Amino acid sequence: MKFFIDTANLDQIKEAQDLGILDGVTTNPSLMAKEGIKGEKNIKKHYVDICEIVDGDVSAEVIATDFEGMISEGMELAALHPQIVVKVPCTKNGIKAVKYLSSKDIKTNCTLIFSVGQALLAAKAGATYVSPFVGRLDDICADGIDLIRQIVDMNSYYGFETQVLAASVRHTMHMVQCIEAGADVTTSPLSAITGLLNHPLTDKGLAQFLADYNKLNG
Ligand code: E4P
Repeated sequence: MKFFIDTANLDQIKEAQDLGILDGVTTNPSLMAKEGIKGEKNIKKHYVDICEIVDGDVSAEVIATDFEGMISEGMELAALHPQIVVKVPCTKNGIKAVKYLSSKDIKTNCTLIFSVGQALLAAKAGATYVSPFVGRLDDICADGIDLIRQIVDMNSYYGFETQVLAASVRHTMHMVQCIEAGADVTTSPLSAITGLLNHPLTDKGLAQFLADYNKLNG
């Protein structure tokens, strides 16, 4: 089970890396814009900066929507750093791009997955990761976690090596549900990961241990 952080914020990535349990980072154009990163040169530098903080895969998303554009952008992104995974939307051109990039041994993350059928096409094209969006399905009263379960079952039934990267994971309960559904990876804000630590009995137990120690030791 891998934990990725879903942000382009370097401070949060450092904080997650310092925890010692971080396996990678996902970004998207909206997350890059949120940090005010603009211009091709700055965007590429930012991806390299992220790679230098984290030990693990870093998803960098293509902007092009045509096949040739996705390929050339994907190759450029992959050449930036060995940890870069090229993130490609699940469209017809995206599936072709995943197939092409996989044939060149470039890791891919097929994103914006909202159905088992999309995940199947991405897996057949050789995607390293598929990213079903849990929170965005929940937002429209569909069941995001059920989709994770269905894709995990499909991968196991057919023996696909593609990893299920549960995305749009918004809070700690989503994390727990993704773990129970058998996701290979979750990508979430840091707060959803640190939320896993919280338990009132841990706090109560620790307070009691310290109080008992202090009774005798001052
Ligand atoms: C996936 O990789 C996306 O970056 C992300 O998880 C989307 O999350 P959101 O629906 O909270 O924007």
